[in-house]
Amino acid sequence: MDATGDTTPSRETYPVIEDQLTPPALPGTVVVLETADEVIDRVAGDLVAHAEQCVRDHEEFHIALSGGSTPEPLYRRLMYDPDFRRLPWRRTHLWIVDERCVELDDELSNYKMIRETLVEHADIPPEQVHPIAATDPDADVAYERGFKQAMLYRPAGEDRLDYVLLGLGSDGHTASLFPGSSALAEPHRLVRRVHHEPVQPPDRITMTFNLLNAARMIGVLVTGTSKAATIQQIATGSDPVEVLPIRGIAPHNGELLWYLDAAAAGQSREEPPCAQTSKV
Ligand code: 6PG
Repeated sequence: MDATGDTTPSRETYPVIEDQLTPPALPGTVVVLETADEVIDRVAGDLVAHAEQCVRDHEEFHIALSGGSTPEPLYRRLMYDPDFRRLPWRRTHLWIVDERCVELDDELSNYKMIRETLVEHADIPPEQVHPIAATDPDADVAYERGFKQAMLYRPAGEDRLDYVLLGLGSDGHTASLFPGSSALAEPHRLVRRVHHEPVQPPDRITMTFNLLNAARMIGVLVTGTSKAATIQQIATGSDPVEVLPIRGIAPHNGELLWYLDAAAAGQSREEPPCAQTSKV
C-alpha cells in the first residue's frame, strides 16, 4: 500500500519487458526462445503432452526422429529430466526419419546416436523400435512396407505418424531431402533411396514429403548461428522447394511448429567479439 492507500503495484515495481524476441515469418507456429536449452525444454514439454494425448486417442504413439547433432541434447533431456520421463514409451513406436547407408553401429548412423541417447534408456519394447537397415538393397521398400503394416490397426485417415521431429541443414535440406533431388517431387512413395554427392555418405534412405506431411504434428528444431541465414532465406525469400527443400514441409491435416533459439532466429544478444575491450 502507498501513501494514498492505493494497493495497486506501481509500474516501476513491475517494469514492462519490451525486448521480446520476434519470430521470423515462417509457416506455422514459431517459438523463439533465448537459449537452446530453453528451446529443448519447450519441445520436450510439447512432445510429452502430445504423446499422452495420442495414446488416449489411439492407444499407441508413433514418432519419427531425425539424426544430426541438433536433437541430441533433446533426446538426452527426455531421458534424464524427471519432468519428461513420463512420455509413454511402452506405448510408443519409434521410426527414423532418414538414415545414412552405413551399418547400424557405424559412427555416422543416425540410429546409433538415437539408440545410445534414448532407446537404451527408455522402457520402449524392442519390437516397437524401427531402425532402417539402410545397407540392404531394398531398404526403402521394406521400411515403407513395415510402416504400412504397423498402421493397419488404425482407421483410414488416422494411419499416419503422430509426431515428426525434423532438423534443418544450412543448405535448406530436411530429412535427407536435398536440393535438386528427384525425391522432392516423389508422387507416391513414402520412403525413398537418395544419392547426394556433397554429403557423407552420399547414399541415404529418407521419408518423403508424402509421409512427413501426413503427420499429426511436425516439430522443426533449429539452433545456432550457423542456421540463421537459412532461416532468414526461408522467411523472406521465394526460393522453390527444389532449392530450399524445407519449404516442402506443409502438413495436410496437422500442426507445424518451429522451435528456434535466438541465434538461429538471427537475434542473438551476445556481444560480437570486436565489441569486447581489448587489453592490447
Ligand atoms: C541427418 C539428418 C538431417 C539433419 C540436418 C541437420 O541425417 O543428418 O536427419 O536431416 O536433421 O542435416 O543436421 P544438424 O542437426 O547436424 O545440423
